Amino acid sequence: VDGQGQRVFDLTIAAGRTEFTPGRPSATWGVNGGHLGPTLRARRGEKVRINVDNRLPEATSLHWHGMHLPPSMDGGPHQMIEPGTTWSPFWTVRQQAATLWYHPHPHGRTAQHVYRGVAGMFLIDDDAAPHELPHAYGIDDIPLIVQDRRLPGGVLDPDEPMAGTTGFLGDRILVNGTLGPYLDVRSQRVRLRLLNGSNARVFRFHLADHRAFELVATDGGLLPAPHTTDHVQLSPGERAEIVVTLTPGERAVLRSSDPDTGAGFVQRDGGEDRFDVLQLRAAATLASSARLPARLADVPRIPAHTADDRRVFELAEHTINGRRMSPDRIDLTVRKDTTEIWEVHSGDGTLHSFHVHDVHFQVLTVDGRTPPAHLAGWKDTVLLPPGTSMRLIMRFADYADPGSPYMYHCHMLYHEDRGMMGRFMVV
Ligand code: C2O
Ligand code: CU
Ligand code: CU
Repeated sequence: VDGQGQRVFDLTIAAGRTEFTPGRPSATWGVNGGHLGPTLRARRGEKVRINVDNRLPEATSLHWHGMHLPPSMDGGPHQMIEPGTTWSPFWTVRQQAATLWYHPHPHGRTAQHVYRGVAGMFLIDDDAAPHELPHAYGIDDIPLIVQDRRLPGGVLDPDEPMAGTTGFLGDRILVNGTLGPYLDVRSQRVRLRLLNGSNARVFRFHLADHRAFELVATDGGLLPAPHTTDHVQLSPGERAEIVVTLTPGERAVLRSSDPDTGAGFVQRDGGEDRFDVLQLRAAATLASSARLPARLADVPRIPAHTADDRRVFELAEHTINGRRMSPDRIDLTVRKDTTEIWEVHSGDGTLHSFHVHDVHFQVLTVDGRTPPAHLAGWKDTVLLPPGTSMRLIMRFADYADPGSPYMYHCHMLYHEDRGMMGRFMVV
């Protein structure tokens, strides 16, 4: 924190070497290290400034996925950082507690840059969040960046190979850059902050014994109340926080099994669809953890009738509404302090994952029906199985800038890089 009370982060993106398997170094990229980047953390109300130094051999950008901030600070494809230069965005955190992340966004190269290892978590803290939630970072509050990779001979192929219509699918799972990870747990309950940081793979997380756990947060923050379930499905870019209860001495395995996407064949392009993600090794005696409160957060519903405008987005054939992203076109203009309903439809038999910058939205309907409990909170990215329509409602507040756009796009990175993306302006 500097003299002005601003929280300052210094990040350097650079090439490095990482041993995913001992004695077999891979050429990787990372932030302040060879692979992935530090967890950034800021409180609601705090001013942040981030100095992003690009020491890669090519231009990149760094986008704060899920952050509500001015478009000129967003790190989209129009905010490139040339090699050897530093970009220093700053903003005030104006959102509730949430698990966000950061990753590059260079048009046509995002898949490659993320694949090589440029990504990290960005946690927002808020005094309003119930203190009963496990919150000792690295002890009972664990960030998990889950990514599929291919490691022939134990070495990462630096050129993200293609597979299938959604993009790259790997047959090995890295969690925070680690193969075959385990976690020593010393308390009864552990909070896992899951991020699907993959390029294309959808995960359906569950415990190997199918025990129930509590889903407590999604992309934009806490759910109104804990939702008891035995699985949580995440497409690329989505996050979920879950609280798992352990018994002393047990070995519990967090696993991902065949997702329920209505597009099984697409996923199977990647071969195996079942992975052990993380082993939880409970100590012989576990410290007791607080019970979760019945209410977690106020999530006031945005009534559909308050919408000022309604728009339709058809995702198909690497386009949105028949167009590929152009850096010379603004696809739509939104007025500040208005509410809109965006109706998104997956129209080409392929999986898509729809993401909007700056805002968090609520899902009004999925194929005309009330959304399931895991879509009851704030979201910024949603999986769109083939043929699905979703109505999303969102409010555009605080920031307007006729000189700088935000993006909306498919978060399947291959699709995004091919142009399944658009630019919107808030004025
Ligand atoms: Cu996670 Cu436009 O991105
Ligand atoms: Cu984003
Ligand atoms: Cu897509």
